[in-house]
Amino acid sequence: MSQSDSILVTGGAGFIGSNYVLSWFAADRGPVVNLDLLTYAGNPANLASLEGDPRYTFVRGDICDAELVGSLLRRHRPRAIVHFAAESHVDRSIASPEAFIRTNVQGTFALLEQARAYWTSLSQADRAAFRFVHVSTDEVYGSLAPGDPAFSETTPYAPNSPYAASKAGSDHLARAYFHTFGLPVLTTNCSNNYGPFQFPEKLIPLMILNALEGKPLPVYGDGMNVRDWLYVKDHCAAIRTVLAEGRPGETYNVGGMSERANIDVVRTICDLVDEMRPTEVDAAPRRMLITYVEDRPGHDRRYAIDARKIKRELGWQPAEVFESGLRKTVRWYLENGDWVARVRTGAYREWIEKNYAARAVL
Ligand code: NAD
Ligand code: TYD
Repeated sequence: MSQSDSILVTGGAGFIGSNYVLSWFAADRGPVVNLDLLTYAGNPANLASLEGDPRYTFVRGDICDAELVGSLLRRHRPRAIVHFAAESHVDRSIASPEAFIRTNVQGTFALLEQARAYWTSLSQADRAAFRFVHVSTDEVYGSLAPGDPAFSETTPYAPNSPYAASKAGSDHLARAYFHTFGLPVLTTNCSNNYGPFQFPEKLIPLMILNALEGKPLPVYGDGMNVRDWLYVKDHCAAIRTVLAEGRPGETYNVGGMSERANIDVVRTICDLVDEMRPTEVDAAPRRMLITYVEDRPGHDRRYAIDARKIKRELGWQPAEVFESGLRKTVRWYLENGDWVARVRTGAYREWIEKNYAARAVL
């Protein structure tokens, strides 16, 4: 039996995965099977607009469950796997690393093994067309000093957090499955994303919501850590490009050419919230809410991506600049109060208590 036109997406109910699935259908591509465990970070509401859409199949399940993954592959016969599922928050990996090793390392291994068995069963033509896109992060490269050149695809791996180490482990497995077995794996290493549907434990949505509610804005350390920000829809476009045009066995760095110090990001968010939701006359501007707090242990100083390879070889570059992307993002959170209320459940409140209550104010 030959392959279908469908793709299997893992972690499609999370932040980037749900943006990917929505943009996939917006571009009128083939069917999607979404395998997601619905951890605290997975939210079916992100994909509520797809309810009843015959192109979309949701399966609640674990990527570590080899039997389930194998049976899904045999039943749906996808032409590609796009692998997003992961534990993704650095601070949680410091508080409780175990789930990161399980999902990011063991889960990716289980998925690669099942993909290999399925791929081996295909005809030669289908094997040649099959793709496994492994979605990874720039954090595997470690930390840069201020004047260092940006991370390229040949920068040695030097992961510093349990999250980064678990993603590095999964990248190595993905590489080995191409090198040893010929499975057509492609890896993307992307910088920090922001945009709609991001769980508000990450910097940008956390700051937008706290600013809106007049709560303290907890900036770690001196606020001078630098991240390279990419609007999530640009990341989704990069992954679609790599899936369609990338060369198996290659890795592609994806970035926004938007390096910003955290404190500048937070100040810009304050100004945007002030503009879109003005405070009472005479009330203090939101910048007054900025509170420097005890740093994250092992906090990487700077990330920067050299994305010339994907531009040169595949023609991808970001469409959004940081200021316009951030404006869209702030507006999205202000206009989607129901979504926000629904994700700030007990699990969210527990995390905020765990991560911030005992953090000293500097
Ligand atoms: P996220 O935490 O928002 O979503 C992760 C999703 O995976 C959730 O829907 C969750 O339910 C699901 N999941 C977790 N464990 C699972 C398991 N065992 N089986 C099945 N599903 C499981 O993450 P995100 O920010 O959307 O990131 C997606 C991918 O992109 C991750 O692999 C991450 O490492 C990578 N990435 C993220 C960023 C970023 O800035 N967010 C940047 C570069 C790369
Ligand atoms: P985050 O969104 O957690 O992404 P990552 O750690 O994967 O880069 O954090 C982005 C930056 O913001 C990082 O340097 C840590 C910092 N940060 C704060 O200063 N305060 C916060 O409350 C959070 C969540 C992050």
